[in-house]
Amino acid sequence: MTRLLINIDHVATLRNARQERFPDPLEAAQACLAGGAHGIVFHLREDRRHIKDEDVRRFAAHLDTKLDFELSLAPEIVDICCGVKPQLATLVPERRAEVTTEGGLDVVGNRDRLERVVPRLFDSGIEEVALFVDPIPEQIRASAEVGANAIELHTGDYANASDPLARQSVLSAMVDAAKLAHELGLTIHAGHGLDIHNYPAFGRAVPHLAEVSIGFAIIARALSIGMEQAVTEMRSIIEQNPHAH
Ligand code: PXP
Repeated sequence: MTRLLINIDHVATLRNARQERFPDPLEAAQACLAGGAHGIVFHLREDRRHIKDEDVRRFAAHLDTKLDFELSLAPEIVDICCGVKPQLATLVPERRAEVTTEGGLDVVGNRDRLERVVPRLFDSGIEEVALFVDPIPEQIRASAEVGANAIELHTGDYANASDPLARQSVLSAMVDAAKLAHELGLTIHAGHGLDIHNYPAFGRAVPHLAEVSIGFAIIARALSIGMEQAVTEMRSIIEQNPHAH
């Protein structure tokens, strides 16, 4: 069954908007776990616009679950991640002006840096290193070549597709990408823009989907039905739409 990890960055976004101490992302993470989440995701950005270093320390100290530390290739953040030793480190591109992560990592173009950073993350004791990539065969092959043992497929183009035909074409690229990644021995994660409406078609179509990472839609839904219930609802939709093999 595909596991559900919840990204709690936007609880920190709300807290920081008022320069307050609440809402507390750690408390939100605990509610996610009570609702059935299989792990917690956070992105320590170079600009610290949502999650702060102190949040990361508190997650590591108090959350007894799988932690997925999203990070760029910035040496300072790589150092912090190695010190925290989450179970999973997911490397993502980062641009200061972006509202959110805007696309997959250019693994081909960053091959040299990745050949240094990926082994460094493993050497620090992290068991799983994923690269966030678009469903492009060269990027997936390069992910295996630089030594990652997982990819996270960028689902933003699927979620934002303007019409059913465009969505179907992205979905078929996702299916091919997942098959290729599986053949290369990579574990398959996916995320960005997934929600209760667009997940079912995605979940049923994409083979070997081990994990999804969902943030914004859950935090938004939690305003209506509460965090625990929003996670329980998403998890039950995932369980009702098991992936193909
Ligand atoms: N995966 C990655 C690599 C991301 O950068 C993000 C957004 O922070 C997500 C998943 C979650 O996306 P969303 O918040 O749209 O669910």
